[in-house]
Amino acid sequence: MTDAPILTFDAPSRLGKVASVDTSRVLIAVENAALLPRAAVGSLVAIQGATAQEFLIGMTERVTRQLRDQTAQPDPMEPATLTVEVVPDDCLRAVLLGTYRTITGTVRNLFKRGADSFPQIDRECFLIEGGNLQRFMGLLGRDLDETQRLELGHFLIDQSAAAIANGDRFFQRHAAILGSTGSGKSCAVSLVLERAHARKHANIIVLDMHGEYASLAKPPKSEGGKAQSPIAAAFKIAGPGDLTNPEQGTLFLPYWLLNREEMLSMILDRSDQNAPNQAMRFTTHVRELKDSTLRDEKQETVRATFTVDSPVPYKLADLLAKLRDDDTGTKPGKKDAEIKGDWNGKLTRFISRLESKIEDRRYGFMFKPPEAALKYDWLAEQITKLLAAGEKDLGIKVVDFSEVPSDVLPIVTGVFARLLYDVQFWMQAEKRTPFVFVCDEAHLYLPTRDDADAVEKQALVSFERIAKEGRKYGVSLLVVSQRPSDVSRTILSQCNNFLVLRLTNDQDQNVVRRLMPDSLAGVLDGLPLLDTGEALLLGDAILLPARIKLKFPAIEPLSQTRAFWQEWGESDPDSAAVAAAVETLRRQSRTSGGFA
Ligand SMILES: Nc1ncnc2c1ncn2[C@@H]1O[C@H](COP(=O)(O)OP(=O)(O)OP(=O)(O)O)[C@@H](O)[C@H]1O
Ligand SMILES: [Mg+2]
Repeated sequence: MTDAPILTFDAPSRLGKVASVDTSRVLIAVENAALLPRAAVGSLVAIQGATAQEFLIGMTERVTRQLRDQTAQPDPMEPATLTVEVVPDDCLRAVLLGTYRTITGTVRNLFKRGADSFPQIDRECFLIEGGNLQRFMGLLGRDLDETQRLELGHFLIDQSAAAIANGDRFFQRHAAILGSTGSGKSCAVSLVLERAHARKHANIIVLDMHGEYASLAKPPKSEGGKAQSPIAAAFKIAGPGDLTNPEQGTLFLPYWLLNREEMLSMILDRSDQNAPNQAMRFTTHVRELKDSTLRDEKQETVRATFTVDSPVPYKLADLLAKLRDDDTGTKPGKKDAEIKGDWNGKLTRFISRLESKIEDRRYGFMFKPPEAALKYDWLAEQITKLLAAGEKDLGIKVVDFSEVPSDVLPIVTGVFARLLYDVQFWMQAEKRTPFVFVCDEAHLYLPTRDDADAVEKQALVSFERIAKEGRKYGVSLLVVSQRPSDVSRTILSQCNNFLVLRLTNDQDQNVVRRLMPDSLAGVLDGLPLLDTGEALLLGDAILLPARIKLKFPAIEPLSQTRAFWQEWGESDPDSAAVAAAVETLRRQSRTSGGFA
């Protein structure tokens, strides 16, 4: 790096002078009319600061030319006639983003966020373009050392400059990738995962709602026919077809992992007049059953302090038997006659709700776990698979939730995240490896609170806790959604970095606007106009909020936009495949065999 100043301005790049200033914006009276057409919205301007070494850097929000009538200089030949001429008033409004200094102390060429001083009226202003722009954009990623660089693509205002975010900052305090359907979010996630894979021990858990990221674990052959190596390990929440002989990587979330509230949100009908009794008996029995497991396992230290919420296995059949005993129980009455017990008939509906969940194969991952999942050591083995690097050292784990029924999706994602978070929470601080949850399609299970039902509220509790406290324990969220207006505000407002792709809906744009400082309102106006794969990168991971073009990932997720028109001209629908799909629908499973 040379020590020469990066920004050097000559007369042709001089725009004009500062005409008015408010806290974050400057109005520049443009004197160099030839430059005006080149100063597009989004271009950068430099304003001479308090000293010769200091420039304030701003981003153009608005460029205007107003025509004004003006009396021309009187013609000496005809001094009596007054002519009126039309002159342009050129103005440019910019929002202040940072301060650049050619030298400060011993450091040369330093750019920092925030304006250190307010620009003064009549200060000289310049347009940053050409060589100045290239050098300036290069400066943005310069101070990041190799271990922090997260390269996402290139800047739109200068295609030759790589857009590099600070990888630490990007993940440290939660990030969000937002954009309408088809704007390129899933591809952006793949790209981030690909970059993370280059770190030796990345630790990321992707909650994959559509099985889109399966390609990262089983990459298709590249064009040359060469097999690409996988960058992620695949897991799947067991579907109805995985209950017998589950394949490797199939995950179960047995009922005993759920805490009391989570379990009750699924099976208790709060409008039932016996609901308090039902909840009480359930709690008592679960506690007793967990206690007896701990006694049988000789886990006396755990037994001394466990609670009803502790994940300790017990048999559902035993629970049902105890509940049934209550429901049909009798007690001695007067004169030795047996009369109805205290709970007699009060648990019938609770039991039948529980039984119907147990019978439903779609809930098999919870209520029909394999024998092994009732062993005391099973949980530690499972969590180790998810939190430590598994086979082939693949630290990125894609968990396919696509076969989980939508009504329990929130609770399943919530339990899953809570368990991993709790384990991290209780781990010795110096032994923790930080990890990230990528919450794809977050609007499905992290809804705004107003319209959340009991089940959804439980999921929110887990994720909101991570959003609020996760930083301290090295757990972070990457929230991905096409409907930011449907995603919990508590979670979004904890995000410090945003990658916002094309966003066409008004409501969604407003949500994003409210999450950003006011000064960026102008920059956000361009959101509906972004092309696929173009995004605004905002937050503390990058020095300047900037429009960037994301690099296309090496392994594309299975979410390509289909070429309707073209495909209609090429292939006819496959009737055998349609018939096979009907059977798959009946079976509720794509995995088990039986169709070609
Ligand atoms: N950086 C990019 N450059 C070029 N094309 C891209 C880029 N990113 C995505 N695309 C294309 O855009 C299409 C949609 O991308 P993607 O599946 O990532 O969208 P999405 O935002 O996740 O949509 P949805 O919300 O429906 O899941 C794909 O066909 C992909 O090839
Ligand atoms: Mg997607």
